Amino acid sequence: MQDIRVAPSILASDFARLGEQVEQVMDAGARVIHVDVMDGHFVPPISIGPLIVGSLRELVHERDGVLDVHLMVERPERRVEEFAAAGADSLTVHWEATPHVHYALTAVREAGLDAGLAINPATPVEAVVGLAEAFDYLLCMTVNPGWGGQAYIDTSTAKVARMRELLGPDVAIEVDGGIDPATAAPAAAAGATLFVAGSSIFGAPDPAQAYREVAAACGAV
Ligand code: DX5
Ligand code: ZN
Repeated sequence: MQDIRVAPSILASDFARLGEQVEQVMDAGARVIHVDVMDGHFVPPISIGPLIVGSLRELVHERDGVLDVHLMVERPERRVEEFAAAGADSLTVHWEATPHVHYALTAVREAGLDAGLAINPATPVEAVVGLAEAFDYLLCMTVNPGWGGQAYIDTSTAKVARMRELLGPDVAIEVDGGIDPATAAPAAAAGATLFVAGSSIFGAPDPAQAYREVAAACGAV
């Protein structure tokens, strides 16, 4: 059995109080902290980069947590070294962001990190099944990448179920976008194991309590 985990996404946090907010959710039980990197090309916004990963590494690692870095950047294979050096534990690359996906995933593993592969809502699961040996987890975008606070795309639930059917029971499946207690439950039933939640946690008045509510809805440890 794989652990079920909720990964708070700091994209929705108050960056003026970033360390304090990460401590709040880790004190509530979070062990995976999700970091959204956007380059202004693959997705329109520019967000944050290795500097923020580096400033969180000690705080997260000393609490036995991991930094789950989601690269929404073009040609992610060119960024692996700098994120590995900054302290990332896993790196997710997008299938749509490079013609060299297998190479990118291999580079992530060779840097000693877990390799994640993300697919956008319009990309069919069948496109990536052949790469299963090359990734440690598959990330199903449940919104279009680029912004927090969007509504969960309902057809994602069937897509997650299809991923589980094609990949078997052992591969971790991450869902990202519009996850709250109401949407986490069906995604969990379909076979998702890692639940990224940004605004439903950091947009709430009490992020620790909001974390516990999402965790309860998906059966997280
Ligand atoms: C969107 C990012 C998400 C984002 C999710 O492109 O990949 O990780 O932070 O935010 P919410 O949970 O608010 O949809
Ligand atoms: Zn993300």
